[in-house]
Amino acid sequence: MTVMERARGIIRDAGHVVVLTGAGVSAESGVPTFRGTGGLWKEHRAEDLATPEAFVRDPRLVWEWYGWRRRVVSQCVPNAAHVALASAARVHDDFRIVTQNVDGLHSVAAADSPRAAPLELHGCLFRLRCTRCGKRRDDRGVIDATSRATLPACAACEGLERPDIVWFGEALEPAVIGEAVALASAADVCLVVGTSAVVHPAAGLADLTRRRGGHVIEVNITDTPLSGTAAVTLRGPAAVLVPELLSPDFPE
Ligand code: OAD
Repeated sequence: MTVMERARGIIRDAGHVVVLTGAGVSAESGVPTFRGTGGLWKEHRAEDLATPEAFVRDPRLVWEWYGWRRRVVSQCVPNAAHVALASAARVHDDFRIVTQNVDGLHSVAAADSPRAAPLELHGCLFRLRCTRCGKRRDDRGVIDATSRATLPACAACEGLERPDIVWFGEALEPAVIGEAVALASAADVCLVVGTSAVVHPAAGLADLTRRRGGHVIEVNITDTPLSGTAAVTLRGPAAVLVPELLSPDFPE
């Protein structure tokens, strides 16, 4: 039996499946990852760009960087992995997608299906939040970061808006991480796709499934801290392996 056949068998026998994705699932869509070759944290210092302190110090610089990331991601479309995951979630109630990604590509692949909508642990590049009143709004417009005065402002209170993203040193939304913990704790399978599994609490979700006797299946191009405890590791690009893993058992 091949590792792919073994992984398919585990998924076929599972009642509840939770999928945890990271930047690697979007790599073949052209979205840069964080820690690999050419990764964002290789070329930029997270503490200058992705912390609340950085935003207080220089909101224009932070918005310039997020404006650039929004432009890059706006040109990307979901790949075969996003599509296969969304198809499975659309037809199976007990198949849920939890993502660390802020690129919104799982949501695009889910189109209008609430069932296939992902839980976005770290927020979304295309949602803004007012630093004064907390009001959130979806926005795909161009960010003008030429000066402090041109940065996005809240329509309700005129407060400065920030990307609605969980930065280093910030806590995840309790309701969102709470739901992810509940899903992972009840899952028979945690399918982990394209994450280096070093950022907590997301990286701990697979352990919750494993500790209840469920299986972890990992799809990645390389080893991660989770590989040793995974029931099956599938080595290769997500856009190839995920559709191969799901298509026979999750027909549309
Ligand atoms: P990383 O950049 O840390 O890891 C990406 C993972 O994807 C690595 O393990 C790669 O080996 C793997 N990978 C790359 N290309 C792949 C492909 N084509 N197919 C399958 N796997 C591939 O990204 P994350 O683990 O998502 O936080 O990073 C976690 C968090 O750290 C992010 O959400 C972000 C970052 O700081 C916030 O923005 C809050």
